[in-house]
Amino acid sequence: MSGTRQSVHGLWSNRLTFILAATGAAVGLGNIWKFPYIMGQNGGGAFVLVYLLCILLIGIPVMMSEVLIGRRGRQSPGLSVKTLAIEAKASTRWQVAGWSGLIASYLILSFYAVIAGWALYYVFKTASGVFVGMPVAEVGTQFNTFIANPYALIAWSTIILALTVYVVGRGVHKGLEKTVNYLMPALFVLLLLMAIYSGINGNFGLAVEFMFKPDFSKLTMNGVLIALGHAFFSLSLASGAMIIYGAYLPANVSIAKTSILIALCDTAVAMLAGLAIFPLVFGYGLQPGEGPGLIFVTLPIAFGNMPFGSMFGVLFFIMLVFAAFTSAIALIESTVAWLVETKGMKRKNATAFTGISLWFLSLLTVYSFAGASWATFDFTLLGKPIKNFFELKDYLTSSIMLPIGGLFIALFVGWIMPAKSTQEELNESTLTYRIWRFAIRWITPVAVIVVFLNLIGVLEFFKV
Ligand code: TRP
Repeated sequence: MSGTRQSVHGLWSNRLTFILAATGAAVGLGNIWKFPYIMGQNGGGAFVLVYLLCILLIGIPVMMSEVLIGRRGRQSPGLSVKTLAIEAKASTRWQVAGWSGLIASYLILSFYAVIAGWALYYVFKTASGVFVGMPVAEVGTQFNTFIANPYALIAWSTIILALTVYVVGRGVHKGLEKTVNYLMPALFVLLLLMAIYSGINGNFGLAVEFMFKPDFSKLTMNGVLIALGHAFFSLSLASGAMIIYGAYLPANVSIAKTSILIALCDTAVAMLAGLAIFPLVFGYGLQPGEGPGLIFVTLPIAFGNMPFGSMFGVLFFIMLVFAAFTSAIALIESTVAWLVETKGMKRKNATAFTGISLWFLSLLTVYSFAGASWATFDFTLLGKPIKNFFELKDYLTSSIMLPIGGLFIALFVGWIMPAKSTQEELNESTLTYRIWRFAIRWITPVAVIVVFLNLIGVLEFFKV
């Protein structure tokens, strides 16, 4: 199978650990924090439908491709693709498909750590009981005051980054694997508890209607791109993670089955998060289009008014921190692995170095929320108004780099790698292989290209 190449970083102990680690990478702030608020901003049902189609038709085939690249290349994303390009006797320029993922994950972590810091702060804030009976407007004011304070944001995100550096510095076995073995089961239990709790206390009617009754008049072309980009973001695709986690995957594990399972878990968590959050949004007369503060404003209000609210509020934010943390370690791993492979650095040093540089980059995010004049601006990027560095990093990665990176991965695996190699690595029945190959050669490239052409107005032009 993967022939003679070996990972210098070690391998996952077994199939389950890989599933936990990859699900840990996939399930994160994207599912619980971002999905509800972008769904709110883009009209609900129709957006959800497009998102689900993207997961099924594009997300799963691309995930299989990335794990395949990783397992066959056995190195960090850029070098794995380069190795396979050489194997395919193709131009080594294809390695850009891996590098863009590594860069995207680096940029994502520079805002991800800040939001994870919010979640950590809210664990303590909810535990203190301040939200009990607090007026709706006051909860919003408290949130706005918090994010406007750069020192608080720096302090909390520093804790997240430091923990990430600590765990990843310990290596695949003692660090990553051990962490996901504890945190993922805890996450599942907490999620189940939360779902039951809001099933008892929430009002599902409006939420279900909002999420599952498509109203296409509310969906813009830009909304379609955001749904596509979020499918990549949520599954951790085109951002190095699935390649590097695939690089540690033992040879005999089925890539197709595990990928489908990971995508199913990720989607289930996103749907559950929506069903837990929107009943409260509508129940308390809040706006679904609130933006990044959505869960930090709506949930404390709800928890402040429900039986055992403080306790479940604490559990909810702990769950969010766990989800974010298992993603943060995946976001830093590609860069660390690359430094170890090529710069001869020890893992601990490589992680610390990456962490410190990320800390500086995260200041751009912090000062975006604090509203510093140098961090705020106003321009339009592919149909979306961008107001600060946070929005720039978020939109540039999720909506531009990830779909285009995914396009290159699809082209590389579908058209450049010989069918013999991909077939050998996937090792599936002829039918499964054919379906995957059709999706990766045709559906992904055509979908991504059409969405972008549409966005820059090219299709408009041909309509007349
Ligand atoms: N999937 C993560 C989430 O939903 C975000 C993410 C995007 C990510 N790319 C990644 C996480 C790469 C780990 C690795 O929150």
